[in-house]
Amino acid sequence: MTKRKRSLSGIKPTGSPHLGNYLGMIQPAIELQEDYDAFYFVADYHALTTVKDPVKMRRLVYELTSYFLAFGLDPERAAFFRQSDIPEVTELTWVLSCVTHMGLLERAHAYKAARDRGEQKEINHGVFTYPVLMASDILIYDSDVVPVGADQIQHLEMTRDIAQKFNGGFDGKFLKLPEAKVRKDVATVPGTDGRKMSKSYDNLIEPLAAPKKLRKQVMQIETDSTPLDEPKNPDTCTVVDLYKLVADGDEVAQMEKNYRAGGYGYGHAKQELFETLESRFAPYREKYESIREDQEYLEKILARGADRVRPIVEEVMDRVRRASGIGRV
Ligand code: ADP
Ligand code: TRP
Repeated sequence: MTKRKRSLSGIKPTGSPHLGNYLGMIQPAIELQEDYDAFYFVADYHALTTVKDPVKMRRLVYELTSYFLAFGLDPERAAFFRQSDIPEVTELTWVLSCVTHMGLLERAHAYKAARDRGEQKEINHGVFTYPVLMASDILIYDSDVVPVGADQIQHLEMTRDIAQKFNGGFDGKFLKLPEAKVRKDVATVPGTDGRKMSKSYDNLIEPLAAPKKLRKQVMQIETDSTPLDEPKNPDTCTVVDLYKLVADGDEVAQMEKNYRAGGYGYGHAKQELFETLESRFAPYREKYESIREDQEYLEKILARGADRVRPIVEEVMDRVRRASGIGRV
């Protein structure tokens, strides 16, 4: 039997996932559990750069675990675990820090954005070193592919760069170079204002939020002011762009026809988008609600996931320690 390739990804626990998270990362990652050796984790170390409340942190970890299970992650096939259950990633972060130039980190989008917002004094070292921790997350599992949205491509390039610096510096192929796996149609899902959907922009559609809230978010999608009776252009409308990502081909063709014919308002289109989202996501919401409080079950899934990945970590760290001359032989 040929060895399966490994798919690895992580996501910060930050509450209800938005449609960009789901279509850009969660759904593609879960689908890869069919053909890949799948490792996915809750990035609580990364979340620590902003979350400073232990009760909230644990709740967010359980919530994110419940979302993945509700969306179809199969713990029999994929390993789902908590980043901090593998503390060796912080050891590897240090080792990689020693081959990472300051200039590389100064060019990171997230750090640059925080600095440009004038937050220089408040930026903690964790934010600055975030890409090294992420490189460590990926490299410590000998990952082949990393399913993510387009905004993470820079981090993947940095990861490859850092791995090459390590391999070059210590003269060997110790760390495997991973590839980003970005799905073109959902690389950048638009938010209600047409920009990239992101927690930072307050333009979210959260499909597992209560139906009333979800409907309100859909109704907030910005459109132009073409009157109801007049024909409209489906090619320049965020409602249609989003509908294309969740409806089937016939439904999209019908909506485009309605736009061109006129007598069909943006309100009608938004209602159809809402109904499509609701019928697709309501079963996931129900499943999520049924498991989110079951701490014992969720801890069991996370512990089992960590146990599954630990042998790989030991193997890779052994390579890293030998290559760099640290640790006991
Ligand atoms: P946010 O930008 O809202 O803070 P995160 O950085 O937590 O989102 O992203 C988590 C995952 O979801 C990443 O893999 C990211 O690439 C993906 N993602 C986030 N927003 C989008 C989007 N609008 N379109 C596609 N993928 C996205
Ligand atoms: N930086 C990613 C995000 O903001 C989360 C993340 C942390 C990650 N470590 C990772 C993603 C390793 C892929 C692989 O969404």
